[in-house]
Amino acid sequence: MVGLTKIAMEWLQDPLSWLFVASVVFVEFSKLFVEFCIGDFIPWLSWADPQGINVRLRAARAALDQFIDKIIDEHMKRGRNPDDVDADMVDDMLAFLPEARTKKAAGDGGDDLQNTLHLTRDNIKAMIMDVMFGGTETVASAIEWAMSEMMHCPDDLRRLQQELADTVGLGRNVDESDLDKLPFLKCVIKETLRLHPPIPLLNHENAEDCAVGGYSVPRGSRVMINVFAIGRDANAWKDADAFRPSRFMEGEGEAAGVDFKGGCFEFLPFGSGRRSCPGMALGLYSLELVVAQLAHGFNLALPDGMAPSELDMHDVFGLTVPRATRLCVVPTPRLTCSLVADDDAAHQA
Ligand code: HEM
Repeated sequence: MVGLTKIAMEWLQDPLSWLFVASVVFVEFSKLFVEFCIGDFIPWLSWADPQGINVRLRAARAALDQFIDKIIDEHMKRGRNPDDVDADMVDDMLAFLPEARTKKAAGDGGDDLQNTLHLTRDNIKAMIMDVMFGGTETVASAIEWAMSEMMHCPDDLRRLQQELADTVGLGRNVDESDLDKLPFLKCVIKETLRLHPPIPLLNHENAEDCAVGGYSVPRGSRVMINVFAIGRDANAWKDADAFRPSRFMEGEGEAAGVDFKGGCFEFLPFGSGRRSCPGMALGLYSLELVVAQLAHGFNLALPDGMAPSELDMHDVFGLTVPRATRLCVVPTPRLTCSLVADDDAAHQA
């Protein structure tokens, strides 16, 4: 982590390297989130910081700040209106930052909301961080696990591909409007989130004294909810460790009525209650669409004739629980049409 800020500064001169900086910083944050910090447990020792965690935290935070400042500055410089076709989320938020309101918007008088609601640069930074941390690694790790589990259990991959062929047909790619007609896809996603919840431990603090399972928990305690263990609890799930999406299938599986909206406490990949995930709909949409497009668009094989049972299914612990080794799959085209839509192809030409 030594000099992370300096590295970030140098790399940020080249926009193509942003991705590299983001991944270095994210990986460091992901590690820091779960680092054992002695001061968390023995507060009067926190000044000592024998593991140098505070130094690493400050460096990672500074690097991230530079990264996001640069994004905001670039957007302010190009001054897009939220109504422009190529405007993005940052342009939308900048419409509420008084110093960044574009001349056109200011001239138009903007809309009422923009005149009454003002954001600060720090507000915008916090929201960008929320989306970056909440919405990138979680979805990426779940996509990789869904594909890994299906490569490990090819019968489930075949069933999903059959559902896609029957519903969508091999003559076109899957799109958003198909997702609600693909019940087995939904089961694959649920089963992936049960076995591999992207955020395995939820950290909360109880506001009131309470008793749980015969233990009294004083107000202000740090409460950790182990979603990973709950999803594999043999008292709640049949074949708890097996990847079996059909358990969620209506009319077929024993867990058909179980969902992840927060009311079924044996299945909490998005948490529950007021602090549950605000990005659930967006996360699910990305997850379902990417997995459907990969399964529909390609025949998938493991490299070098590897048998499904030989695939490494170990994970590593961090803020998320990604695979210990990257999944490597050999794709060959499955559809009778081009994977690039006509208008995309025209755009690229
Ligand atoms: C498969 C995808 C996702 C999963 C499994 C997931 C899961 C979670 C979980 C378990 C929490 C903590 C809940 C708790 O502490 O009780 C959380 C919080 C949060 N998530 Fe997600 N998430 C996903 C996608 C997203 C996306 C796409 C976004 C935003 C674009 C997002 C933004 C957030 C934010 C901002 C919080 C903090 C909420 C708060 O502190 O009140 N998440 N997510």
